[in-house]
Amino acid sequence: MDIEGSVVVVTGGAVRLGRALALGLAKRGARLAIHYNSSAGPAQAVVSQIEQAGGEAFAVQADLSQPRQAPAVIQRSAERFGRVDGLSNSAAIFEPGNWSDTTEENWDKHFAVNLKSPFFLSQAFAEHVGRARRGHIVNIADWRGVRPGADHVAYTLTKAALVAMTKALALALAPNIQVNAVAPGLILPPPGKDREYLSELAKTVPAQRVGSSEEVTKTVIYLLESDFVTGDLIFVTGGQHL
Ligand SMILES: NC(=O)c1ccc[n+]([C@@H]2O[C@H](COP(=O)([O-])OP(=O)(O)OC[C@H]3O[C@@H](n4cnc5c(N)ncnc54)[C@H](OP(=O)(O)O)[C@@H]3O)[C@@H](O)[C@H]2O)c1
Repeated sequence: MDIEGSVVVVTGGAVRLGRALALGLAKRGARLAIHYNSSAGPAQAVVSQIEQAGGEAFAVQADLSQPRQAPAVIQRSAERFGRVDGLSNSAAIFEPGNWSDTTEENWDKHFAVNLKSPFFLSQAFAEHVGRARRGHIVNIADWRGVRPGADHVAYTLTKAALVAMTKALALALAPNIQVNAVAPGLILPPPGKDREYLSELAKTVPAQRVGSSEEVTKTVIYLLESDFVTGDLIFVTGGQHL
């Protein structure tokens, strides 16, 4: 796909990794639908930043803990730009919960935001693209999804299922829609933690350092530009998943 002039929906595009991804795509000439839930101000700031640089963007709100709201993100983006060419499912929650203290509420919320909504966003996207045009889906997974630990159980299971969904949809939506995933490692500190916390953890990473949002963005761009890679998962972890 030629990123210049394409229309890409980035869920969770107002803050952190999603924001970096949206700005990186806009820099390459993509037109952006910045999905947000609670971050209305930051979403508008991303839109303004893109517009000031001569690009095109708009902000679209949906609470993805209510998966019925998901398809409207694609529909409203298509109305705004006339078409949608790419979808990056980045919005997610990452809350603690081990095998004994995970509640049904914690489980259900992770599955709704991290898996069910990406599925119904993908379904709406595929319906919009149809069979005559090309399209790309890039899911933001996590290396934990393929190497589960004993912590963050619900989160980890949603990311494992997101990887499985990536492969299943790559088959279902071939040949005209490619579906891939990126599994970041230590990129940004989780809520309540600082860079110091990540630097400590980085000592256990083969690359001996924390990664950057730009490295994740470059990988997503590679996948969006590829015409032949599908059903793949690329680790951007410095070897942490090994
Ligand atoms: N940070 C890392 O180092 C790292 C490592 C591995 C994988 N990842 C993955 O990379 C992606 C981005 O990570 P991040 O750390 O930048 O995320 P984050 O800071 O936790 O941000 C979460 C994003 O998800 C959105 N979101 C949360 N609940 C939502 C809901 N109910 N409805 C709609 N949107 C909702 C938020 O939107 P609002 O702010 O608008 O509410 C926000 O944009 C995630 O998929 C994460 O699992 C990140």
